[in-house]
Amino acid sequence: MKVCVFLLLLVVYGSCTKNLTMSYFRDLSKGAAAPFVNECMCQSHLNPQILDDFSKYGKIPHDPCWKCFLKCLGIKLEVLNSTGHVHVQKWADRFEHLDLSLAEKCSDFDVPDLCQKAYLMFNCVHDEYSKQYPA
Ligand SMILES: *[C@@H]1O[C@H](CO)[C@@H](O)[C@H](O)[C@H]1NC(C)=O
Ligand SMILES: *[C@@H]1O[C@H](CO)[C@@H](O)[C@H](O)[C@H]1NC(C)=O
Repeated sequence: MKVCVFLLLLVVYGSCTKNLTMSYFRDLSKGAAAPFVNECMCQSHLNPQILDDFSKYGKIPHDPCWKCFLKCLGIKLEVLNSTGHVHVQKWADRFEHLDLSLAEKCSDFDVPDLCQKAYLMFNCVHDEYSKQYPA
């Protein structure tokens, strides 16, 4: 019995330490995008408050600079290229918790504007994560 309780605690503890919550995913200062956040903010003229509201409070931005910020990150991460091609495998490789099938599903947007495309891709993954992970 004691062993069972111990094992149970271990499992619960193990899943907690991973912190897989939406606020963890929204924190772009962690993870694959982190090295490019500052540069992409400058390039897209994103208001830092918008990024802050997203990371801290989960407020989904409806802002043209935000869309181009995401495009910039996509290009820096080599997930998106300048002709709009999505490198699905790379996308799944870069982000530990993104599996290939979701990346495939979320790359299928045939829109010429790459800012809009990056935005749709990002929202698609974000929506799917929201169903899987707690706030
Ligand atoms: C998980 O959260 C705890 C407490 O907030 C923190 O100390 C720890 O570094 C986090 N782990 C990861 C992998 O972010
Ligand atoms: C974007 O990627 C596609 C597929 O790999 C390739 O055919 C295309 O030439 C690339 N565009 C640029 C500008 O590199």
